Amino acid sequence: MSENAILRAGPSRVVAPVPIVSAAAQTQPHRVNIAASHVDVFYAAKQAIVDVSIDIGEHQVTAFIGPSGCGKSTFLRCLNRMNDTIPICRVTGRIAIDGEDIYDPGMDPVQLRARVGMVFQKPNPFPKAIYENVAYGPRIHGMIGNRAEADEIVERSLRAAALWDEVKDRLDEPGTSLSGGQQQRLCIARAIAVSPEVILMDEPCSALDPIATARIEELIDELRQNYTIIIVTHSMQQAARVSQRTAFFHLGVLVEAGDTETIFTNPRDGRTQDYITGRFG
Ligand SMILES: Nc1ncnc2c1ncn2[C@@H]1O[C@H](COP(=O)(O)OP(=O)(O)OP(=O)(O)O)[C@@H](O)[C@H]1O
Ligand SMILES: [Mg+2]
Repeated sequence: MSENAILRAGPSRVVAPVPIVSAAAQTQPHRVNIAASHVDVFYAAKQAIVDVSIDIGEHQVTAFIGPSGCGKSTFLRCLNRMNDTIPICRVTGRIAIDGEDIYDPGMDPVQLRARVGMVFQKPNPFPKAIYENVAYGPRIHGMIGNRAEADEIVERSLRAAALWDEVKDRLDEPGTSLSGGQQQRLCIARAIAVSPEVILMDEPCSALDPIATARIEELIDELRQNYTIIIVTHSMQQAARVSQRTAFFHLGVLVEAGDTETIFTNPRDGRTQDYITGRFG
């Protein structure tokens, strides 16, 4: 079924329950970048993620979908140890990036967060100039020695985030002076500037209008040439448009993960079917 057909079908469409690919084929991305196995997450005594195992493919977009409160953001934050900043939060299990255990005591979370960047729901530029928003990360990570190198990284990152042409004559103005959609692209440029391998995006378009959303979606499609991208979204249409793989979460459990088209046309599990057809969520 084409993407347009998915969009036209709307929430009332009944999905055929018969899988067209084997379960094994559904769970194998082409080249594993992130491997999570048996991940549990607790907030104090309350368990928010239950025994989640998933492989995330390199240079693909993976969408995390599921009803509010199912644990999408919690699991996303495990991937760059942002949950470390929540004192009551405890993560168990194993998460490896390129085979390296990110919860190993030898792993520096600050370095990890440069490798695994994050873009949040609400654009959050630093209260600094546009230029500084982008140059700050590379500077604190010792990636730039002089002004020419900083200029080069700033321009390259802003170009990669499809923002350069709009801001090249106003780099000294505050990041907060930009429109919401521009601010979100500035935050993407800021994440790119430290040469990450992975970019995590938690509902990056939910505060944006349809035109700014379309810009970000186009950008995500370009960025996947060079980065592994994971996007949390409440929009089925967005998941269908931007992702190659989709993972459906429900009540802290990863119900199923597979090729996006398969998940949206032939999900294996009735809970996935109910969600994508709008029966709950
Ligand atoms: N900082 C926190 N402290 C305590 N409990 C939390 C915290 N963050 C999330 N939770 C709980 O963990 C569960 C999963 O929340 P999470 O924010 O990961 O869901 P979500 O799928 O991202 O939801 P939404 O779609 O609404 O953003 C919820 O029950 C939530 O109340
Ligand atoms: Mg969330």
